[in-house]
Amino acid sequence: MTMKFPNSPLVLLILSILSSLSVSWATSEPVPINGFLQCLPKQFHSGHPIFEAVYTPQNTSFQSILMARLKNRRFSSPTTPKPLAIVAAKHESHVQATIVCAKQHGLQIRIRSGGHDYEGLSYVSHVPFVVLDMFHLQSVNVSVKDESAWVESGATLGKIYHKIAQKSKVHGFPAGVGPTVGAGGHFSGGGYGNLMRKYGLSIDNIVDAKLVDANGRILDRKSMGEDIFWAINGGGGASFGVILSWKLKLVRVPEKVTVFNVTRTLEQGVTDVLYKWQFVAPVLPKDLFLRARPEIENNTEGKKIAEVSFIGQFLGQTRELLPLMNESFPELRLRREDCHEVSWFESVVFWAELPLGTPRSIYLNLKNKPIPFFKAKSDYVKKPIPKKVIEYMFKAMLEIGNIWMEWNPHGGRMSEISASATPSPHRAGNLYSIQYYTSWFQDEGIEATNRYIHLTRKLHEKMTPFVSRNPREAFQNYRDLDIGANVYNQSNLLTARVYGSKYFKGNFERLVRVKTMVDPHNFFKHEQSIPPI
Ligand SMILES: Cc1cc2nc3c(=O)[nH]c(=O)nc-3n(C[C@H](O)[C@H](O)[C@H](O)COP(=O)(O)OP(=O)(O)OC[C@H]3O[C@@H](n4cnc5c(N)ncnc54)[C@H](O)[C@@H]3O)c2cc1C
Ligand SMILES: *[C@@H]1O[C@H](CO)[C@@H](O)[C@H](O)[C@H]1NC(C)=O
Ligand SMILES: *[C@@H]1O[C@H](CO)[C@@H](O)[C@H](O)[C@H]1NC(C)=O
Ligand SMILES: *[C@@H]1O[C@H](CO)[C@@H](O)[C@H](O)[C@H]1NC(C)=O
Ligand SMILES: *[C@@H]1O[C@H](CO)[C@@H](O)[C@H](O)[C@H]1NC(C)=O
Ligand SMILES: *[C@@H]1O[C@H](CO)[C@@H](O)[C@H](O)[C@H]1NC(C)=O
Ligand SMILES: *[C@@H]1O[C@H](CO)[C@@H](O)[C@H](O)[C@H]1NC(C)=O
Repeated sequence: MTMKFPNSPLVLLILSILSSLSVSWATSEPVPINGFLQCLPKQFHSGHPIFEAVYTPQNTSFQSILMARLKNRRFSSPTTPKPLAIVAAKHESHVQATIVCAKQHGLQIRIRSGGHDYEGLSYVSHVPFVVLDMFHLQSVNVSVKDESAWVESGATLGKIYHKIAQKSKVHGFPAGVGPTVGAGGHFSGGGYGNLMRKYGLSIDNIVDAKLVDANGRILDRKSMGEDIFWAINGGGGASFGVILSWKLKLVRVPEKVTVFNVTRTLEQGVTDVLYKWQFVAPVLPKDLFLRARPEIENNTEGKKIAEVSFIGQFLGQTRELLPLMNESFPELRLRREDCHEVSWFESVVFWAELPLGTPRSIYLNLKNKPIPFFKAKSDYVKKPIPKKVIEYMFKAMLEIGNIWMEWNPHGGRMSEISASATPSPHRAGNLYSIQYYTSWFQDEGIEATNRYIHLTRKLHEKMTPFVSRNPREAFQNYRDLDIGANVYNQSNLLTARVYGSKYFKGNFERLVRVKTMVDPHNFFKHEQSIPPI
């Protein structure tokens, strides 16, 4: 049975009771937080005293540390349950101590690297918990000679791209476009971006990792074994342990790549262009990634209009790209003046929606961007969506107002990798994936939140006949608790199979076997984790 979460009034009621309970836990004392705090300095002596890393609500910077990597304001309200402590690890021994002491004192931990979890699972729990924050652990060591890089989980994608580009003009790494996204969550959840048709997902290019397990042991690929290594590369790190660092295999990129962003409105006939895109984008040469981004914008008179931006990246030059586009997608009418030949790093800046020529210092310091309230969902599409449905979709988007979508073409390398090579099963047979993303910036109250969430769910619901089914697949990095979730401290295998089959299809059963082996007592858990048998 699918559990709608937190759709049903009953679940909402239970959750609100639980939140008020855990808030009071934070102040009274049935909870063993003191035991936990006293335990920490007794573990793993390393010359790095742990008190410099531990924040409780009594420390003045507790709140600012908690908020610094919170990326969805839906989880920043006064009623959102707060951790009893934050350990902002400065050394791997702090990670080990946190695990050992939390286990000893019956506390749950939530692991946070970049904090982009769509449902806030890296910093919110409905049972007494501590946050293990990884942001201090963010070194990035690039070896051009070995064409590889070791990166710690707290490093952001922006920093990783910057460090690679500092060392080489002809290397890159296939991962997402959000510069502030953390390596820890992104890689353990799959990781995709504009190099995926050429090189696959991030996890298809990760060759080693360091993990702290539920006993506080540090393991690398060799000592953890292939099953665990397979599981943490796409199966969600937070079910298996804490990943300290990853070894990336760099990929080759040309010194100049071509990027473009052309936008067509509904009035300009974008429905036909988008319809045709479905047949073209997934079968273009691997060197060309062409995203379609349906969105609602205000026109100059302040009226809401529907449009689609076609954002492209070609691993080559404009003079090769234009005839290719003219032949395969003349409806887009791509012109020379739309195309920009830039270094791979400049393309990264472009994809972050910053103007070409933005200085690195600004790109690397995006802290002042306003943080939205948002709700997102995902889909996979296996056969082209009819024009009538696209027309409906634009109507629904206009009704929501604050929504954009991303249609990300598959094909190319993505179709060559077997569905069981990694936990991420969405490979051959998919034309593209969809992300639905509704966001708002003003705190418009619970009613507005409910309305936006309701309308987003309704659009998703209406798309049911036209997207993947049995199961209706979803992308784990676009976490969505609507597709099934274990509430409170439960870890029910039947419920887990509901969301697990959507994220992982047949790989779910292997993930359960690995979990049973590495964490049989289920220390590492959250609403959508993998339970042991
Ligand atoms: C603005 C924005 C842009 C995005 N762009 C893309 C994109 O282009 N492509 C894409 O694929 N995704 C994208 N995402 C989704 C993103 O990849 C996921 O939200 C990802 O999980 C975030 O990782 P994080 O470390 O920042 O998040 P966190 O919230 O810190 O972590 C996410 C999950 O991973 C777990 N986790 C984090 N660190 C560790 C660790 N060290 N060990 C074990 N478990 C850990 C957490 O407990 C949580 O369950 C984007 C998200 C946002 C908000
Ligand atoms: C938080 O406060 C405690 C008690 O005063 C102190 O020992 C600890 O060092 C503080 N934490 C940080 C990170 O400064
Ligand atoms: C990078 O190198 C520094 C210095 O040798 C080291 O301290 C750090 O742990 C390395 N980082 C990774 C992720 O290997
Ligand atoms: C459009 O205008 C409305 C108010 O008129 C505003 O709330 C909204 O943020 C604007 N949207 C965009 C995409 O600029
Ligand atoms: C585009 O293709 C058409 C027909 O194949 C051809 O006539 C035209 O010259 C081409 N235009 C460009 C700019 O290449
Ligand atoms: C593409 O253009 C649209 C419409 O102007 C804009 O909203 C979007 O930010 C642009 N995207 C990129 C990657 O430049
Ligand atoms: C879940 O929480 C309840 C209530 O606090 C407790 O009785 C139960 O033992 C917990 N179960 C697990 C598996 O932790």
